[in-house]
Amino acid sequence: MNRSPKTYRVKSFGCQMNVYDGERMAELLDAQGLTATDGDDADLVVLNTCHIREKAAEKVYSDIGRLRRDDGSRPLVAVAGCVAQAEGAEIHRRTKDVDIVVGPQAYHRLPELVADAAQGRRVADTDMPADSKFDALPKRARQVRPSAFLTVQEGCDKFCTYCVVPYTRGAEVSRPWAAIVDEAKALVDAGAREITLLGQNVNAWSDGGRGLHDLIEELAKLPALARIRYTTSHPNDMADGLIAAHRDIDKLMPFLHLPVQSGSDRILKAMNRSHTSESYLRILDKVRAARPDIAISGDYIVGFPGETDEDFEATLEIVRRIGHSMAFSFKYSPRPGTPAATMPDQIAPEVMDERLQRLQALIVEQQLAFNRRTVGARTSVLLERPGRHPGQLIGKSPWLQSIVVDEGAVGDLLDVDIVAAGPNSLTGVLTRKQAA
Ligand code: SAH
Ligand code: SF4
Ligand code: F3S
Repeated sequence: MNRSPKTYRVKSFGCQMNVYDGERMAELLDAQGLTATDGDDADLVVLNTCHIREKAAEKVYSDIGRLRRDDGSRPLVAVAGCVAQAEGAEIHRRTKDVDIVVGPQAYHRLPELVADAAQGRRVADTDMPADSKFDALPKRARQVRPSAFLTVQEGCDKFCTYCVVPYTRGAEVSRPWAAIVDEAKALVDAGAREITLLGQNVNAWSDGGRGLHDLIEELAKLPALARIRYTTSHPNDMADGLIAAHRDIDKLMPFLHLPVQSGSDRILKAMNRSHTSESYLRILDKVRAARPDIAISGDYIVGFPGETDEDFEATLEIVRRIGHSMAFSFKYSPRPGTPAATMPDQIAPEVMDERLQRLQALIVEQQLAFNRRTVGARTSVLLERPGRHPGQLIGKSPWLQSIVVDEGAVGDLLDVDIVAAGPNSLTGVLTRKQAA
């Protein structure tokens, strides 16, 4: 039997690094002569999965089931990403409908795995090889979107007690300076106007004594690159140099995603976050002194084992003190193999639901307040995609707000006046149009 695929589809379900991996896998398959398709008829489907919460991880199996066609046949199926890493060959035991299991550090071997699978073999590769996958991947050649992702750092050594990432992504590793600069140039040559530097602890990036702010300063020299962002940062790696970069480097956007997770020091300790609510707020003070208009985003977990009403109130309190432009909040999900999963006092689902609702209501209120404060501002928007109505386009402000405009083309960086705001998006009017 030979089922060599001619067309493929990659579906990514995880964080931005997972999306980046999906793009690199697509490029790799392009280089093998396969053709990308968005339809349901792809010969090879890569499900690029996320293991962070139970819901995300379990979804994979229903997605696999849905790949069966009406006539009972199915495409070649590869499970990639963090579920592949966490479950490995166990996936083959759980379902007959998967041909390839490939982890996030091994996907440069996808072509060989596909060749094996085409011969009817079921294969799994979840190695974390010492030689970097990045060296084995083809050069970035695709026409990229105006806003591109670039992974500079992988893995995590922080071992927060609820989190699977240190297990699925391995130890913290920084990519070398030169490789990143080369990739950034290739992305800019391919049309990127904005680059977001990615890492699970991106601000822990270092190479030969140089830190993330040095890298940002270097990339800011690329003339056609207009905007630089980075995500996700850990409070403990928020170096003074990086904070100063927010004051000194115009191309570095005034936006910081800096998760605190909880406002209760007792819970932060149980989470092994190694910062307190006060030390977090002191870092933000420094950041805001360097860049007063900076937008602050974050992540929160409600219902961590042992979280009392009082602990939860402390979370609401820190949110009030921070004043977010946006933030993500999640119900705690026990993950196999993590210390928190076996802690006593797991919180009842209805308690988590109620806390999540209250937290999200507060966050939406803050988002709306932040967005309303920018009404009347003259700022820039980088148009990223068509909007819902004909002629409309959607882009991002420097503060990562979604702005809808009714002129221009994808890839344009335009000056706009913000004229209206809702909790999730704003309306912009081209500045030159007003002047005319
Ligand atoms: N490296 C990033 C986080 C990556 S995971 C950081 O430290 O900021 C993204 C977010 O998912 C986390 O910030 C956390 O809020 C949430 N998360 C991680 N594990 C979780 C779990 N077991 N249950 C619920 N939310 C979780
Ligand atoms: Fe997970 Fe904590 Fe590492 Fe972030 S810092 S990836 S939450 S272990
Ligand atoms: Fe999910 Fe893996 Fe990212 S678990 S959040 S895809 S690092």
